[in-house]
Amino acid sequence: MQETDPNFEALLVYLKEARGFDFTGYKRSSLMRRVQRRMSQVDTPGYPDYLDYLQVHPDEFTALFNTILINVTAFFRDPDAWDYVRDEILEPMVAGKPDDSMIRVWSAGCASGEEAYTLAIALAEILGVEQFKERVKIYATDVDEEQLNEARQASYGEREVQDLAPELVEKYFEQVNSRYVFRKDLRRSVIFGRNDLVQDAPISRIDLLTCRNTLMYFNAETQAKILGRFHFALAETGVLFLGKAEMLLSHSSLFTPIDLKRRVFRRVPRLYAPPGAVFADPPPAVAARVTGLDELRNETFTASPLAQLALTPDGLVALTNRQLEKLFGVSSRDIGRPFRDLDLSYRPVELRRFIEQAQLERRTLRVSDVEFARGSETVHLVVQVSPLSDADGSLLGVNLIFHDVTAARRLQDELEHANQQLEAAYEELQSTNEELETTNEELQSTVEELETTNEELQSTNEELETMNEELQSTNDELQSINDQLRISTARLDEANAFLETVLTSLQAGVAVVDADLRIRMWNRHAEDLWGLRSSEVIGQHFLNLDIGLPIDRVRPLLRGSLGAGGASAETKLDAVNRRGRAITVRVACTPLRQRDGGPADGNGAIIVMETA
Ligand SMILES: C[S@@+](CC[C@H](N)C(=O)[O-])C[C@H]1O[C@@H](n2cnc3c(N)ncnc32)[C@H](O)[C@@H]1O
Repeated sequence: MQETDPNFEALLVYLKEARGFDFTGYKRSSLMRRVQRRMSQVDTPGYPDYLDYLQVHPDEFTALFNTILINVTAFFRDPDAWDYVRDEILEPMVAGKPDDSMIRVWSAGCASGEEAYTLAIALAEILGVEQFKERVKIYATDVDEEQLNEARQASYGEREVQDLAPELVEKYFEQVNSRYVFRKDLRRSVIFGRNDLVQDAPISRIDLLTCRNTLMYFNAETQAKILGRFHFALAETGVLFLGKAEMLLSHSSLFTPIDLKRRVFRRVPRLYAPPGAVFADPPPAVAARVTGLDELRNETFTASPLAQLALTPDGLVALTNRQLEKLFGVSSRDIGRPFRDLDLSYRPVELRRFIEQAQLERRTLRVSDVEFARGSETVHLVVQVSPLSDADGSLLGVNLIFHDVTAARRLQDELEHANQQLEAAYEELQSTNEELETTNEELQSTVEELETTNEELQSTNEELETMNEELQSTNDELQSINDQLRISTARLDEANAFLETVLTSLQAGVAVVDADLRIRMWNRHAEDLWGLRSSEVIGQHFLNLDIGLPIDRVRPLLRGSLGAGGASAETKLDAVNRRGRAITVRVACTPLRQRDGGPADGNGAIIVMETA
């Protein structure tokens, strides 16, 4: 039973109008599952949302069609069925054709081409390569352009050819790097094209039509429509080869099974009606010397549970029975009347021509599928028309027996219905199976991707670990440099403190200047002497100091003590201390020297100012 959801149907109509893909004839259960799968991937909760999404993202169509159109396939898929087709169909077909006639084959729903190349290999094996090239045309069609493009490449991986016999791979494929490419000279006989089985016209004069694992995606109505096209496509004695799960054909009057198990069918000419149920002929009369035989015969005839009627050779009613009266109202009162005057002669079925034919050909005829309305109930009949002859063979008359097959017919209908349900369930199972295969392949490739990502992460991790180790050792080195620095700083601080103590303890003002005469040091006594704090003078030009010392007089001394050849000099100067008192100051300028006597780094001088 098809579930329908108006929103889903609206989506199908949209797909048809927007992209020409008509999925309305596909079975809903599988179709809905596939669409929902796509919806969850793009995170759209309902069909209307998904329709909106499609309108905004045109690329989504391709992703959706790839999800809906299951492309599972293989070379010689179901090998047993292919063996059968090769031995019982293709070989006799080739043998039965004139040597110069063409062999036309159609692979409908060919996916990525394996089925078409399977046909090519099978025929080339039978005909030989040269004959194959001259006589064979293989049409391979699908609705899916992406698949067709893949099929046209004719290039397959190790996995695809692994189930092919190695000698066939060797003979029919050329190895190009890690790929197997189908032979170019044979490839020319395979013609790929887009054909939508639901909408497009079929190819004609086909000897073998393979449509495998494709019909099962369509509902019964669409399958019937496609089968009508296949019937048209096939030549008079053409053969149809379906997938192993596809069975609805067993109900079709267009095809008759050649091998039901392998799903191989022959095209039935349109006017041929398959024979109905076969009934046993009435037992031959046995002559016996029994008294009251005529009466006995009469009574047997009258009481028969089968409605019966006997006619004379010139068409008059000769015998009737009770069952006939019950069924059609024809009774012993009608004996002697021409049969053609009775309604029964043409209702429920035209019997007169069958009676004439049975008389003429002297053989029993059966008219099946006769329906007859009795009140509210429909009775199904098979009418048996038998000519009756005497011992010399001259015609005695015609016997009509009306078999009521209503119960059998009901059982048959029920059986057929049950069969259909079974077949539908089987098809559903098969298509679910294919879906699972696709899902499995997708999962496998996701797992492979994850594995690759994992490997990449692992190597990134290793790199990070190495970097970490390197950083750690750099850190250790920095730490030890830092420790040394701390020790040096502590020593320096100690030395500075000592120098400070020495300078503070001196009973003279001391200033140290650099080569530019900028003050680098100014001791406590200098502060006391001139009233300027060390923080005020450090960095100042010595000659710009505003103190009670006549700086101009100090300048020649200072200049003389700077530079490479600088020498010590001293003088006495009158000055004014910070309290404004006049004092005499002895000023001595000494060049800054290294321990070895060379000029100190950056050069400079020491100025000692002592109250005389
Ligand atoms: C499962 S594959 C069968 C491949 C091959 N015949 C086999 O049995 O291995 C079904 C193919 O039917 C095709 N298909 C689905 N709907 C179709 C349509 N309306 N007309 C033609 N091909 C169709 C899909 O594209 C897919 O390639």
